[in-house]
Amino acid sequence: MRITLRVWRQKGPEDEGKMVDYPLDDVSPDMSFLEVLDVLNEKLTLQDEEPVAFDHDCREGICGMCGVVINGQAHGPEQTTTCQLHMRSFSDGDVIDVEPWRAKAFPVVKDLVVDREAFDRIIQSGGYVSAPTGTAPDAHATPVPKSDADAAFDAATCIGCGACVAACPNASAMLFTAAKVTHLGLLPQGQPERAARVVSMVDQHDEEDFGGCTNIGECAAVCPKGIPLETISNLNRDLLGSLSSGR
Ligand code: SF4
Ligand code: FES
Repeated sequence: MRITLRVWRQKGPEDEGKMVDYPLDDVSPDMSFLEVLDVLNEKLTLQDEEPVAFDHDCREGICGMCGVVINGQAHGPEQTTTCQLHMRSFSDGDVIDVEPWRAKAFPVVKDLVVDREAFDRIIQSGGYVSAPTGTAPDAHATPVPKSDADAAFDAATCIGCGACVAACPNASAMLFTAAKVTHLGLLPQGQPERAARVVSMVDQHDEEDFGGCTNIGECAAVCPKGIPLETISNLNRDLLGSLSSGR
């Protein structure tokens, strides 16, 4: 395939930034999108030009690092991570726009790399459970209903990629926050902090300058882990319960 990558280049947080075209020949339909960025970077390095900065780690769809906006869609045309997106999803001759996540709470560090520490601070504000000291509890001493365990596991599959924020017209991180609240709030071990957790995490969400949720649903439509919109209803129920009980 012959394609042209039109990539957002920005030297640093203060730089204005601009789109730059990079034509590439010989792209295999079996390459992942990140492999194409690797090929581009090899070419740029050999030409003594600055390679494109982009985040990645596992390249298996589990670390959540590789988020970029491709042709205006978070992670591109498939509901998956950028590392799991393959060039067979594009056509020969395509011009493909590649940009960083766009959100006030995710400032651009360089090129396609954004600072997602705001997510870390939301987790730090309430994403933990009390763990009593002493000997380890007996296995199966705390029974968990199968349906709760399954729902908690589903919520725990959130990889913190930030696609939900990038896709939301309000740049809201409510799907991410709701996944964390739901994951811990469904398990017996998460009950002692449950009421305080939801208030603290939502407060931190707002403090980080993420927007409010207005039930548009773009977040769930792009989430590579299929976290459903109902997760936000779950957060709202917990939040109302917590605020009305005055905890
Ligand atoms: S909810 Fe989905 S889109 Fe949002 S951070 Fe988690 S995995 Fe990514
Ligand atoms: S590099 Fe880890 S999810 Fe893509």
